[in-house]
Amino acid sequence: SDLGVLGVCFNRGQTKKGVDTGPQALIDAGLLSQLEGLGYTLHGSASPTSSSSIAVAEAEAKKDAAPPSHVHDYRNLLDPLEKEGADPPHRNMKNPVSVSQVTAALSDQIYAHASQGRMVLTLGGDHSIAMGTVSGVSRGIRSRFGASTETALVWVDAHADLNRPEDSPSGNVHGMPVAFLTGIAEETSSPGAPFAWLKDPSFRTSYRKLVYIALRDVDAGEKMLLREYGIKAFSMHDIDRHGIGKIMDMCLAHIGTDVPVHLSFDVDALDPMWAPSTGTPVRGGLTLREGDFICEALHETGQLVAVDLVEVNPHLAPDEMGKHDTVTAGCSLVRCALGESVL
Ligand code: ARG
Ligand code: MN
Ligand code: MN
Ligand code: MN
Repeated sequence: SDLGVLGVCFNRGQTKKGVDTGPQALIDAGLLSQLEGLGYTLHGSASPTSSSSIAVAEAEAKKDAAPPSHVHDYRNLLDPLEKEGADPPHRNMKNPVSVSQVTAALSDQIYAHASQGRMVLTLGGDHSIAMGTVSGVSRGIRSRFGASTETALVWVDAHADLNRPEDSPSGNVHGMPVAFLTGIAEETSSPGAPFAWLKDPSFRTSYRKLVYIALRDVDAGEKMLLREYGIKAFSMHDIDRHGIGKIMDMCLAHIGTDVPVHLSFDVDALDPMWAPSTGTPVRGGLTLREGDFICEALHETGQLVAVDLVEVNPHLAPDEMGKHDTVTAGCSLVRCALGESVL
């Protein structure tokens, strides 16, 4: 079957260097040929040429368009913002224009795949890129099945990434994507508000169709929002109590059997024992088997339409083995989500 693959070399949703090299590290480890081995036909994407919601399909149709590629660095969008002070904080958000322009362009690239009925795999990059992946998939699914068709979002992460800008302790946008995607953080309507493009209802995800798994480092403002909105969340405590099998049963019961599912997997959901090479590691996380099981259980539903694997940062490994472990763990998660099984 057909699989759109997008490596997003982007790190401005946080402040550590190196997470933009994650996609290439996963590909160098053989991920793409592993996926072909599972029977997928891989499709790349045309490079976006501007940020303002360009129709990628249109660009692809043009004869002079750049050839499709699996890995995108978005230099054409980011170069104009290279100068010191060119992208000042907005509402406490760091690099707001960089994140907005790249995720808006990514949203169009993802939409181009999802609207054709392709499964979409995105390799990050920091987790701010989910603003592009989740919105692009939601839009693509709605274009195929109607405006009322919602896509469920399973967010596997040590963190909730649900901060509203003003509540964020860091100002890093990779801690905010879920707040914008669900509309819990309203972008202001003022002209030039960076995430105004995410206000379109067809880009949105309902917080009722959102499930968190593996949470263990949640900020005070995020805890309040999780309670206020009644968002389904399974912490590491819940996983210890029930076991991962029961947790996935509960997760799928909440989602229902009639909805497409987007899996956004932050590699820091895994314990640093398995994935030390990431920007915000938190001890007490998932084993690699638990992570793989989550992916396998979602694959088995037949409802998966998109998978993100983010926050692999090869530069942050404590040693060469830590880097290798993190990258191979990431490849394993993706293969499990895309249907690899032992027997
Ligand atoms: N909650 C913290 C923050 O807002 C950490 C977020 C980490 N996010 C991530 N995608 N790794 O800064
Ligand atoms: Mn995280
Ligand atoms: Mn924290
Ligand atoms: Mn995250």
